[in-house]
Amino acid sequence: MKIISVESYRKLSRFGANLIAAQIAVKPRSVLGLATGSSPVGIYRDLIDRYRAGELDFSEVTSINLDEYIGLSPDHPQSYRRFMQENLFDHVNIDPARTFVPNGLAPDLDAECEAYDKRISDLGGIDLQLLGIGLDGHIGFNEPSDAFMKPTHVAELHQSTITANSRFFANEDEVPRRAISMGVGGIMQARKILLVANGIAKRTIVDRAFNGPITPRIPASILQLHPDVTVIYSME
Ligand code: F6R
Repeated sequence: MKIISVESYRKLSRFGANLIAAQIAVKPRSVLGLATGSSPVGIYRDLIDRYRAGELDFSEVTSINLDEYIGLSPDHPQSYRRFMQENLFDHVNIDPARTFVPNGLAPDLDAECEAYDKRISDLGGIDLQLLGIGLDGHIGFNEPSDAFMKPTHVAELHQSTITANSRFFANEDEVPRRAISMGVGGIMQARKILLVANGIAKRTIVDRAFNGPITPRIPASILQLHPDVTVIYSME
């Protein structure tokens, strides 16, 4: 595991975008596992700039997102599908038919979860998985628990995650209580992992997750067992 500290969010974003751009350059048909939240926004902006400058081509890329809130339609302002459209997909030449986000309105959620894992394996697995980390150590919506959840599953959000995510909603009551999330199995099978964390508030959890014991109480700690993880941390 490489842990790289940088002094600014701008540098975090630049460096993260470098790794993703390199992945696409080396393998134009890459499968990228993508994340939402505030941490990757700068990376997406940087990737858009490179695309506009003619330096990056998404035409053969496939993307598969980590998670989606249950109960939000794809065009809901806070859905993760909409987030991805606004922050990346609408601004680059990725084929819309090759962008996958779980369907939070699926009538049969278990079937949706199973189909999502099948899709990942049909795609040949994820080449590069981008992750953020929650203040409680969650990755995707794999919240602290007694055991690591391997498959894609329906996750109950913990109170600390509901509170943290309420900044994007009018109030805490509007934050969905459940989400579909890729499990740690799908994440750990990615060939490369890039985790980005920024802000002083994340310092303790980054330290506990990557320098402490591996435990499902801190889901991100399992990444210590992955052979190719880069963590970029900025205190800004
Ligand atoms: C988002 C996701 C979450 C976030 C995490 C950190 O798709 O899966 O695990 O990565 O909650 O969010 P930010 O970056 O907003 O601090």
